[in-house]
Amino acid sequence: MNTYIFSLLLRCISFITWITLFSNSCVDTASIGNEDNFRLSKLSSRSQTPKTHEYNFNVTIIYGAPDGVSRQIWTINEQFPAPTIEITKGDRVIMNVYNNLNETTTVHVHGLFHQGDPWNDGSVATSQCGIPPKSTFTYNFTVNQVGTYYYHAHFPGQYIDGIYGAFIIHDPEDPYLDEYDEEYIVVLSDWFHTEGKILTKMYFELHFVEPNPNNGLINGKNKYDCTQLYPDTPCNGGECSKFTFVPGKRYRLRIINASTMAPFFFSIDNHILDVIEVEGGYIEKYTLTTVPLNIGQRYSVIVKADQEISNYWMRSAFDYTAYFRNQTTKVYNNAIVHYEGADEKEPTTQFWNDSITSEWKDLDQLVNLKPYYYEELPSSDLTMLLSTDFNMTEGYMNGSMYVPDYNGSTLNKVYQGVREFDADQNVYTFTQPGQVIDILLYNLNNKEHPFHMHGHKFWVLGSFNTNFTGVIPSNATFNLVNPIKRDSVTLEACGWFVIRFVIDNPGVWTFHCHIEWHAISGMVMQMVELPDSITKLDPPQDWINLCDYSMN
Ligand code: C2O
Ligand code: CU
Repeated sequence: MNTYIFSLLLRCISFITWITLFSNSCVDTASIGNEDNFRLSKLSSRSQTPKTHEYNFNVTIIYGAPDGVSRQIWTINEQFPAPTIEITKGDRVIMNVYNNLNETTTVHVHGLFHQGDPWNDGSVATSQCGIPPKSTFTYNFTVNQVGTYYYHAHFPGQYIDGIYGAFIIHDPEDPYLDEYDEEYIVVLSDWFHTEGKILTKMYFELHFVEPNPNNGLINGKNKYDCTQLYPDTPCNGGECSKFTFVPGKRYRLRIINASTMAPFFFSIDNHILDVIEVEGGYIEKYTLTTVPLNIGQRYSVIVKADQEISNYWMRSAFDYTAYFRNQTTKVYNNAIVHYEGADEKEPTTQFWNDSITSEWKDLDQLVNLKPYYYEELPSSDLTMLLSTDFNMTEGYMNGSMYVPDYNGSTLNKVYQGVREFDADQNVYTFTQPGQVIDILLYNLNNKEHPFHMHGHKFWVLGSFNTNFTGVIPSNATFNLVNPIKRDSVTLEACGWFVIRFVIDNPGVWTFHCHIEWHAISGMVMQMVELPDSITKLDPPQDWINLCDYSMN
């Protein structure tokens, strides 16, 4: 595009941003980053007999200023990030979701399998029809997994504006239980000063480049330099989240990247981190100063309050090869680790790794992430070769752009006897129980893509940053002995990976890039898994009825 026209467009976009900000003369009433939402209950007080946790969730839009810049936020119960769900393995969760928006919505728990209840997955057009405006739908399921998860709206573009929260499942058999005293949740996210709806419109109709975040948040808060905004824009500079450490205690931090767009490098100045959990699976302790997390990924780390009584920066750093490239000072998203007994001054500590300038990469999962429990890797029955590509506002899986059909989800259709789907549904059907599938996904695009699979964890056998030319190179090395199992993995720019999973969970599950703009652009496929077993499961009538609204 002609650079003059481009700069005009950019100006026009900033003007729109300014208008949306300037019109926000309303009062900020959202509850932002409330510390209690991120402190988990004491280990000793947890009951081990299965409990039912009932949540009444009101999805609603309200003014708030996570980084001091006032805007409308899409919230659950007027809280941002959304309320933490904290349960123990074996518990039941009842989520009554009242949709107070003017459009349909859904709630998806990222990483749950929903074995035997696939209608609870919360993916619009895939596992359910949207919850109509001004009505309630109830998700009701038991959870037999453990670890660190999160939930978010799974309707295009909605979670950009704030509908995400932590979902924590305690494990009475946690092998590391004696190695930490307290637990905190750390939700990392990128943040925009313009609403997702406007950004999406601009992306598709004006500038065809994914919008860059304006800021990043830790547990919903950060500072922002108001002078970067148009004069008179409502902005109070914001504040940082605070984590209080008692000297001598050991903390388990459950870190979640709930971004729309950005991967992060997480670290705490002067403190070493022991990684113990990868997306619900324990690993042998892996000691690091900096943990990279792409969108949808989660890690637990143990950190000891063993430094001088003082204040320290907790940081999630943007990848400078991708964001804020033109800025001379680095942009960190900061929170404060405050030792009890220290003064209330801002930390003056130094970043562990000022040399992070290289391309962002997943934690070296093939070598250093070693599952704590040994699991025999089954051999593969079928290898699927899939490509993905991305061009401006078009995302492709195997050359096909996914177009959601809101008039009835794929799962509903399976119940209605449909077994053949239109090409733009990107459906792949698996009918053999126990079949072991390898997906070799290769990237025709020069950007990385964080892929997430619903309904499963997969073993990561190999991940490469080289072009895939159609045959597996003879020098490619795979990890076939107790490889790491997870649900979110990065496909490197122009690279490829091989993942393995077992066909054992009847349902319809998506496999998609978790960059929200890419998912909206079509970088999504749907796996119809064991359709005959699906129809033997009895979905609730309320779930079927959801489609009555969509059909009208
Ligand atoms: Cu985090 Cu399709 O989900
Ligand atoms: Cu992508």
